[in-house]
Amino acid sequence: MKKLKVLTVFGTRPEAIKMAPLVKALEKNDQIQSIVCVTAQHREMLDMVLRIFEIKPDYDLNIMKNRQSLSDITVGVLKGIEEVLNKEEPDIILVHGDTSTTFTAALAAFYQKIKVGHVEAGLRTGNMYSPYPEEINRKLTATLANLHFAPTEENYKNLINEGIDGKNIFITGNTVIDALLQVVKPNYFFKVDELNKIDFVNKKVIAMTCHRRENQGKPMEDIFEAIKEVVAADESVEVIYPVHLSPAVREIAFRVLGDVKGVHLIEPLEYEDFANLMNKAYMIITDSGGLQEEAPSLGKPILVVRTETERPEAVAAGTVRVVGVNKENIVKETRKLLQDNHEYNQMANAINPYGDGRSSERIVKALLDNIGIL
Ligand code: UD1
Ligand code: UDP
Repeated sequence: MKKLKVLTVFGTRPEAIKMAPLVKALEKNDQIQSIVCVTAQHREMLDMVLRIFEIKPDYDLNIMKNRQSLSDITVGVLKGIEEVLNKEEPDIILVHGDTSTTFTAALAAFYQKIKVGHVEAGLRTGNMYSPYPEEINRKLTATLANLHFAPTEENYKNLINEGIDGKNIFITGNTVIDALLQVVKPNYFFKVDELNKIDFVNKKVIAMTCHRRENQGKPMEDIFEAIKEVVAADESVEVIYPVHLSPAVREIAFRVLGDVKGVHLIEPLEYEDFANLMNKAYMIITDSGGLQEEAPSLGKPILVVRTETERPEAVAAGTVRVVGVNKENIVKETRKLLQDNHEYNQMANAINPYGDGRSSERIVKALLDNIGIL
């Protein structure tokens, strides 16, 4: 019997984390021939994930440039992937989420009339500039995709409202929970020794990340100033912030927070270390998408330093609060969680709107059941 040839394409850290369990599930299935192409839109941060999950890509486009523009990524992926598609002629390619790798790989496949499956489909804010350029990347990818793997009911409805045929949409949960459940462990010992020295019991540890393009500049300065103010006023607080490798982010982070007592600016962590850091932390402050899905499952309150979110499920459940990018408001909301036990306990709910750890399995099944009818 001829196997279904599936080419999985990804390029950044979050795509890699969320595609890794799916790649493993594809590899295990004997009806499928699995091929992996990384664009390496990220280099070091991608390689860290490939190492942890032991994935050896068949193709590596190696496109990353220092301070790359959106056009740099788009051109690099479009040209690089053309050759891979010509050579492999897959039955379908799988892309993930909303990065420029995602949209461009889907476009390249469409140019060759190759089917596209979109993993983590249907997330929307309704604002084309927030997150930027991700909202448009995922809408364009939905237009190009033949199969849509939506994490939640809400995501399904967003796609239906845009005119996508319901028979091509599958509610699968989010594969990030598959990945998270593999790495979070009780009594975890960190590989980065600095973390083993943190007093997670007597201190209130805030795990933090911040990198979004629309926050770079003044909003990011204000977010970091807010952190500085919170830490200066409360000795029991320690902030651990693995700083993204983007020079645009690092310049602001090290300038504003570099010498602040109580703030640990560290290098990006391997996924195992970071997931277990979240699990041991008191709370989380972030503008990341993935953290908004992971933290609720760990029962950690999370303040989102953005003006809107495409992940309303955890907001509705009370675990996530969108606090914007105004300095005073971030200080106020953070203090509330640090000082008010009732407020904290109300948000510290372990909920699981994003999956049960079996999303990859559902995607593989939907692929095999439906590819024949496309
Ligand atoms: C990208 C995605 C964003 C995703 C984020 C996850 C786009 C347009 N943006 O944003 O959706 O949320 O990844 O982190 O697709 N760099 C390194 N080494 C690395 C990674 C990045 O040096 O391993 C530096 C390079 O100078 C690079 C810059 O960071 O040019 C920015 O990387 P880029 O992928 O363009 O943007 P991100 O902000 O990472
Ligand atoms: N993460 C990680 N190491 C870190 C910081 C984050 O492995 O030092 C993980 C995090 O758990 C989540 C993902 O990286 O799964 C989020 O990636 P990122 O913030 O780069 O992108 P976003 O989620 O905003 O698209």
